Amino acid sequence: MQILDGTAVAAHIKEQLKHEAEALKARGLNAPHLAAILVGNNPASEAYVGSKVRTCAELGFDSTLLRFDVSISEKELIHHIQQLNDDNAVNGILVQLPLPPHISPDAIINSISPDKDVDGFHPTSQGKMLLGQQTFLPATPYGILMMLEHYKIDIAGMHCVVIGRSNIVGTPMSVLLSRNGNPGNATVTLCHSRTKNLKDFTLNADIIVAAIGRPRFVTADMVRPGTVIIDVGINRIDDAARKSGSRLVGDVDFDNVAPLCSYITPVPKGVGPMTICGLMKNTIAAAKLQAGMID
Ligand code: GUN
Repeated sequence: MQILDGTAVAAHIKEQLKHEAEALKARGLNAPHLAAILVGNNPASEAYVGSKVRTCAELGFDSTLLRFDVSISEKELIHHIQQLNDDNAVNGILVQLPLPPHISPDAIINSISPDKDVDGFHPTSQGKMLLGQQTFLPATPYGILMMLEHYKIDIAGMHCVVIGRSNIVGTPMSVLLSRNGNPGNATVTLCHSRTKNLKDFTLNADIIVAAIGRPRFVTADMVRPGTVIIDVGINRIDDAARKSGSRLVGDVDFDNVAPLCSYITPVPKGVGPMTICGLMKNTIAAAKLQAGMID
């Protein structure tokens, strides 16, 4: 069994991105600039946005963090997004999800200019992805593709079982794994909370992508020897043995599943750092797009 080390792969990719940002600046262009919007103070969202902003600094990108009180209205938030759409100094915009219940995530995502949609969540980005056109790919599936590429895991012809059908991970992942590209050409089964006899599918999988958001959901009896496991889950569970009283676990029961696998991503330090790489790749692509360097 080999651990797919997200931190190490991300470090490698971030080094390349740092050089790319330097090259842009050497040509007299501005550093790529990401604007992140955080509404409220959900601790997990705070941590994710903090890590995105820190990574921008590490790579020599500019970033702006706009924080709003949980009481902000949908209309006001859209107004701020429109200002960022019109600001030539900003290349990429991300709105950290989830949003408070009175704000429609669809209305917010739809208000982001597709040229600045570095999360790849806008209908234009998702539509282009579905059609195999050049676009911003959603950061987590993009990061997973880069991870498979880095470890030279050839998924062509393999049976991939994706568990979870969110717009952010499961659904785009199923599209990208099956497209006629590289990585791609896998046979994909998209399973979800209503799938009957899930085990019948997972026991026939060459690759399992677990993105259902339930702690240690994929257990050893669901996995055949040699499977590649990609664990997208980040779940906080109680752990009295820890000083903090809690710890992070994935959607896979790592301790019991890992010995069966050919490859497995740990949680933390697996998919998480790759997601940030996906976002940073998109941000630099947005800067190049807006500078007329790519179509
Ligand atoms: N919430 C959970 N994952 C993500 C992500 O990739 N982007 C944003 N904006 N919010 C998220």
